[in-house]
Formats: sequence, C-alpha cells, structure tokens
Amino acid sequence: MDADAKKRAAATAALEYVEDGMMVGVGTGSTVNHFIAALAARRHRIAGAVSSSEASTALLREAGIEVVSLNDAGDLPLYVDGADEATKHLHLTKGGGGALTREKIVAAASRKFVCIVDDAKLVPVLGRFPLPVEVIPMARSLVARRLAAKGGQPVWRQGFRTDNGNEILDVHNLKITDPVALETEIGLLAGVVEVGLFARRGADVLLVAGDGGVQTLKR
Ligand code: A5P
Repeated sequence: MDADAKKRAAATAALEYVEDGMMVGVGTGSTVNHFIAALAARRHRIAGAVSSSEASTALLREAGIEVVSLNDAGDLPLYVDGADEATKHLHLTKGGGGALTREKIVAAASRKFVCIVDDAKLVPVLGRFPLPVEVIPMARSLVARRLAAKGGQPVWRQGFRTDNGNEILDVHNLKITDPVALETEIGLLAGVVEVGLFARRGADVLLVAGDGGVQTLKR
C-alpha cells in the first residue's frame, strides 16, 4: 500500500468516531483531506464542522459541509487531524502545513482528539521531523537565537505566512526526549505564538495505517 492509500485508510477509520448530530473539529493536511472527502457523504447527518485552516475551510465548503466558527460552536465532542510525527505515547509534532496554532486551539476545545497517520510517521522519539514554531514576524531572529541556544537549528520558512499572518521557524536536530517540558519552554519564549509540539494535549486516539490494516493506539 502506498502512503496515500494508508492516509485514506486512516481517514476512513476515523469516521467510526463521528456520530449523528456532531459538530466535528477538522484539522489540516493531505490525510485530513481524505477525511473531508469521506465526511462529505455524511454531511446531512452532522451539525457542521469547525475548521483549523483556510485550506480546510475551502474544502469543507466545497464538500457542502457547513463551517461554523469556534466562538459560535463552543466545546466540541471530536477533533480529527493528522500529524507529521507521532509516538506511542500519543505525543505529536504538527505544523508541516503551517496550521499548528489553529490546530492547537481546536484540539484544546475538543473532548476527543483522533489523530490519523500512516505508519511512516510513528517514531520512538520526536525530532526527526523539524519542529515548526509560529512566530510574530518582528521576533523571528530573537526566537531563532533562543532556539539555537537550546541546541536546535532553526530555519526560516521563507516566503510563507500562516493564516494568522505570522512566520514559521522549522527547528532541526532537536532530540525531543521530554516533549511536555519542551512544549512549555518554547511556548514561553517572547514572540512565539505556538509550537508544533502536541504533548500537553496530545491525541486521545491514534489511528496508524500500515500494510496490515489500521492499528488503534489509545492514551
Ligand atoms: C498542518 O499544519 C499539519 O499539522 C498537518 O496536520 C500535518 O502536517 C500532517 O499533514 P499530512 O497529513 O499532509 O501529512
């Protein structure tokens, strides 16, 4: 099975968590795009969706799914999103697509976070995938120096702006042995909007698609 077929398999498995009448939190990325396509067939049975990015909003609307603002929706029963890396402890690295801040907000508002990945993303320790950090533009160099002092190699994602008008530093070569502590530490740096570590609020369910089918890991 190729990576895209695995992504589709994980996305389809997430449908099991969607109940009639639910307002569904929807993440961002190529795996979630499969989930949106699958959700389209159930659009009349759900209350609508809260989106984590402009890209997902456009796809949801194209699929005929009503997009509701988080302020209007309140707390959500379910959030479905992908990840760039995941561990068996259900800690995640996210933000490869630059949507980490809104993703973290929707995850925080959700009672259950179902993360959908292909098996290439399951790692023993986070850090192979460069850690995305969203920064206020004027603080980019300051935050980069602070991240370098922590042993990382921050690379400016040039020419890219987030949906919030900010910039991204991708931090290479971090060995993330304590994701909860690092998420807190980086989050406290002046100028950081959000860090792509999802450890304090990781996933509740991780659906990992491989050649043998979809494996379910739970917290
Ligand atoms: C978007 O900013 C990310 O957090 C995505 O959830 C993550 O990059 C996974 O994307 P793919 O499903 O495209 O691999």
